[in-house]
Amino acid sequence: MLAHDSLADEVVALKKSRRAVILAHYYQESDIQDVADFVGDSLQLSQEAQATEAEVICFAGVHFMAEVAKILNPTRTVVVPDLEAGCSLSDACPPAGLAAFKAQHPGAKVVAYINCSAGVKALADVIVTSSNAEKIVKSFPAGQELLFVPDKNLGRYLVEKTGRPMILWEGACIVHEQYNERKLVQMKARHPGALVLAHPECEGPVLRHADVVGSTKALLECVRKDPAREFIVATEPGIFHEMERAAPQKALLEAPIHGACAATGACNTCPHMKRNTLEKVRDALANLAPRVDLEEGVRAGAFVPMQRMLELSKAA
Ligand code: 13P
Ligand code: SF4
Repeated sequence: MLAHDSLADEVVALKKSRRAVILAHYYQESDIQDVADFVGDSLQLSQEAQATEAEVICFAGVHFMAEVAKILNPTRTVVVPDLEAGCSLSDACPPAGLAAFKAQHPGAKVVAYINCSAGVKALADVIVTSSNAEKIVKSFPAGQELLFVPDKNLGRYLVEKTGRPMILWEGACIVHEQYNERKLVQMKARHPGALVLAHPECEGPVLRHADVVGSTKALLECVRKDPAREFIVATEPGIFHEMERAAPQKALLEAPIHGACAATGACNTCPHMKRNTLEKVRDALANLAPRVDLEEGVRAGAFVPMQRMLELSKAA
């Protein structure tokens, strides 16, 4: 048997002995997705984390996602493969900065994209993901001043979609800002039948050429259901594993980026997501570490806008 297979077997055995579940984001390496109990986007992973009765949640994603599991299901032990797996969006918006921003806009409500720390969530009125943001922004009464943090690209997209003005925080995803509009237009010309799928963390000029803009789950569903045979995908290529499984007969092309990864050091693979390996998943389950714990005041503060999001997501 290959060493790789025995590692996967070890992980499966540890899941059982630890009464653990592995929740994985679509951007994880395919060997991690293959041993996960659930693979999904940020909203689905939040819902799964809240619902699970497992004693241990091993969260294969990035730090803010594991924090969400702890916020929603605090009696579970939450472990991660690598504590350093962060997110450029979360890093762009420290709680003290948001507190100062709020002080400048005393009547405003804070809409926070889920890609932020628990400390920032505790200062927000509602959390959104790319699956539900449009609906939740529209749920505020007209005239309500809104601050949107931390993603300026998703924020600008939402302002255009909903017609609701919002004051935007200046954060961006280091991965999604790599896509290049000019090269995308050229690729579309070479593949006239292809549908362009883009995550709303991409910059506006790229989003303007997209046929479908949505969360990782929405883009996956499009590949599964749309009759098109070819897709140009502007999001982290970890999602290709599930897309290929969902529609093996369809052609998937990576949307072009500004420069070659090796030459520029910037790439369309998420360096944070890719810190996680199957070995580290095994070690996290074996050692029940590293753990994600939160100070109870912050956790309880972050729970309120998270729960509001989950309720608004259900509402018709
Ligand atoms: P989704 O919620 O669409 O999976 O997005 C998460 C993310 O970090 C995208 O970069
Ligand atoms: Fe954060 Fe971008 Fe990585 Fe998503 S892809 S986790 S937004 S850095």
